Amino acid sequence: MKGIILAGGLGTRLYPLTKITNKHLLPVHDKPMIYYPLQTLVNAGIRDILIVTGGNNAGDFLRLLGNGKEFGLQHINYTYQEGEGGIAAALSLAEYFSDREKICVVLGDNIIENNISKAVNDFEKQESGAKILLKEVPDPQRFGVAEIRGDKITGIEEKPTIPRSKFAVIGIYMYDSAVFNITKTLKPSARGELEITDVNNEYIRRGNLTYEVLEGWWTDAGTFDSLLRASNLVAQTGANKI
Ligand code: DAU
Repeated sequence: MKGIILAGGLGTRLYPLTKITNKHLLPVHDKPMIYYPLQTLVNAGIRDILIVTGGNNAGDFLRLLGNGKEFGLQHINYTYQEGEGGIAAALSLAEYFSDREKICVVLGDNIIENNISKAVNDFEKQESGAKILLKEVPDPQRFGVAEIRGDKITGIEEKPTIPRSKFAVIGIYMYDSAVFNITKTLKPSARGELEITDVNNEYIRRGNLTYEVLEGWWTDAGTFDSLLRASNLVAQTGANKI
């Protein structure tokens, strides 16, 4: 399986911290934010990795990470997203890299306490389709929220005012190569972006989406509150435990 980290976008919710640098280069406790999703993929045994960056500081990723030697990698692939077209727009830039293999996509501002090895192994065995990860949270209206009936997800709503469950869809997604046919059919949402939730809902419509509930804590780090929370969680318990 190949790994893709989406670290584009303009990080406007963290302005002025993101006025002169990319959100994913900001510190989370003792490391730059991008270290965490990279470690998440490496700990799951994924070594062929693409980072999608954007904005004015894309070159800094190369200066920081190089070929990924610190992570035991021999090479990292990079590509550039123009503007802020949305998570699914950033993902569509990975089609050539993925070369029809299965992929594991991690959002550049998502940090986890433990690891995703079991889910990745399970998805290796899944014949086709997609797998997403859920986590019960106190503030589901900030995220994509899954509606669950029995052992199936029946739909996902992006940032609903009245959430149908407390299960947030976290920013770690596994897809087969059909994902790139789906991203080509998407239309921009009300916030002007190609939404990853629309991709996942299409897999639900095809009856081809599985899920697992993540163990250990999970947080994003894209707002002032969640950035502080992320630093505190990492300082208190550590992240990316194997
Ligand atoms: O954190 C999980 C949540 O992430 C999910 O529950 C939501 O369903 C999903 O839409 C997303 O929500 P956000 O609104 O918080 O996503 P945000 O715009 O903050 O983008 C998250 C990351 O995705 C960001 O750190 C980098 C990447 N990204 C985002 C955009 C808009 C890109 O690479 N390019 C982009 O154009």
